[in-house]
Amino acid sequence: MRKPLVAGNWKMNGSSESNKALLEGILSKADTFSDIEVALFPPSVYLQQVQSALTGTGLSWGTQNLSQFEKGAYTGEISASMLVDFGCKYVLIGHSERRCLYAELDLDQCLLDRIIAEKYEMAVRAGITPIICIGESPDEHAVGRTEEVVLRLLDTVIAHQGVEGLAHTVLAYEPVWAIGTGRSATPEWAQDVHSFMRQRVAKHDKEIAKNIRILYGGSIKGNNAAPLFLQPDIDGGLVGGGSLDADEFVKICQAAV
Ligand code: G3P
Repeated sequence: MRKPLVAGNWKMNGSSESNKALLEGILSKADTFSDIEVALFPPSVYLQQVQSALTGTGLSWGTQNLSQFEKGAYTGEISASMLVDFGCKYVLIGHSERRCLYAELDLDQCLLDRIIAEKYEMAVRAGITPIICIGESPDEHAVGRTEEVVLRLLDTVIAHQGVEGLAHTVLAYEPVWAIGTGRSATPEWAQDVHSFMRQRVAKHDKEIAKNIRILYGGSIKGNNAAPLFLQPDIDGGLVGGGSLDADEFVKICQAAV
């Protein structure tokens, strides 16, 4: 049985003061969603604040990125071992908003996928659970290339690390056209893609496919979460804007119970 996971990706938002209120608001209702797993992803500069607030509460935390390098002269980067220092259980890898940053360097998709696979390897080696974000752009969606995009990144990760690595991984389907737009994918659409992802993993290992959690991300709110989370292959959500308001995020977590 896959335990639902609701992850709150704060992106580049918050302050020590607003984070305190947000954390208190979420923790005040934690008993109403104790049957699921909840993880928060603050900007890295707030990791200590989140670690202090969540330690011993049953909620987990992680960061929104990590370096593909172990250590060294990589100004501004954060290593897997540093995330272990701050008790991170998870790390987001390959979020579309980071892909866009890389894309500014005009790196080709295959090189981007290899960078993601290298980050993935660093996380798995450090014992941090990677949440690998996969999703098609509006243009790819418009011409029906969703499955091709999903296949390319899944196959790259499996080729790089072997399917065994997926036993300690969470996948997230985040259609770029649904991120921050207020236009979530329909439960049926999301279920179809999640089922396709799970079947792809099953081609390599049926047991891992049965157990791997696949989250949906893209404009999840308190009023649309339940029908998404009811889908058989949707194991929770990766929430952006909806995670920045305690009441909204609590509603989303309660919908996953
Ligand atoms: O990582 C989750 C995020 O990309 C979804 O953002 O604001 O559409 O919930 P949002």
